[in-house]
Amino acid sequence: MELFDSHAHYNDEKFLQDKEQILEKVYKSGVTKLICAGYNLEASKEAVEIAKNHNFIYATVGISPNDIENELITEKQEGINQKMQNELIQIEELAKNTKVVAIGEIGLDYYWNKENKEEQKIYFKKQIELANKLNLPIVIHTREAIFDTLNILKTEPVINKGIFHCCPLNLDLIREGLKLGFYISFAGPITFKNSKNAKEAISAVPLDRILIETDSPYLAPEPIRGTRNDSGNVKYMAEKIAEVKGIPVEEIAKITYQNAEKIFKLKA
Ligand code: NI
Repeated sequence: MELFDSHAHYNDEKFLQDKEQILEKVYKSGVTKLICAGYNLEASKEAVEIAKNHNFIYATVGISPNDIENELITEKQEGINQKMQNELIQIEELAKNTKVVAIGEIGLDYYWNKENKEEQKIYFKKQIELANKLNLPIVIHTREAIFDTLNILKTEPVINKGIFHCCPLNLDLIREGLKLGFYISFAGPITFKNSKNAKEAISAVPLDRILIETDSPYLAPEPIRGTRNDSGNVKYMAEKIAEVKGIPVEEIAKITYQNAEKIFKLKA
């Protein structure tokens, strides 16, 4: 059974010591394609390097809402300042690499950052513009910011659409996201014993729009919750979806693989 992990961070410091061994193990376990997601400039550079060095890995580049520099927050300027502009120019340069398949992760996070909502929105919109300019889809991070996230997606249409990564198990968000043409990517939380809406959330997503991811090194699924996550665990998400949908896990693996290849345009 071959699996596609749609979102992982081998550019995270938690993989600094043993990244190559883990990636070899992951590939041998059947995860034959994965996306290494950028979240700030440095991590985006690293994601591109990792993708260049491994045939089975692709990269996304972008500035996440949790990686907006503090100077921007305190300056409270209208529009974008020089620093932001420079950062976005560098993201654009990185995005021209052939292994870069999306702009992300980008979006809004009002759980970790309530103080700079306006800056988050500006960054999100600017990077949507960039994705449209470069003909790429986007990878969305959204947390406690559902209304504003959807509002931006409605007013700033994303030509190549994209995915809600580690999608919150919120039925309104899922339904609206699907209506806008986006894919829904499920991570560890669908396996957590205390997760309330997992079943309903999975049921709400048609098979042709569903993706699976680990968000490694974070969010390890049941039954290994709390450990350092790696892409080998993406099978637990496939199993959970298979159980809810009443379809063999092999079938879920195949469909999510094809969906990922489609949205990230890995096949002509
Ligand atoms: Ni992530």
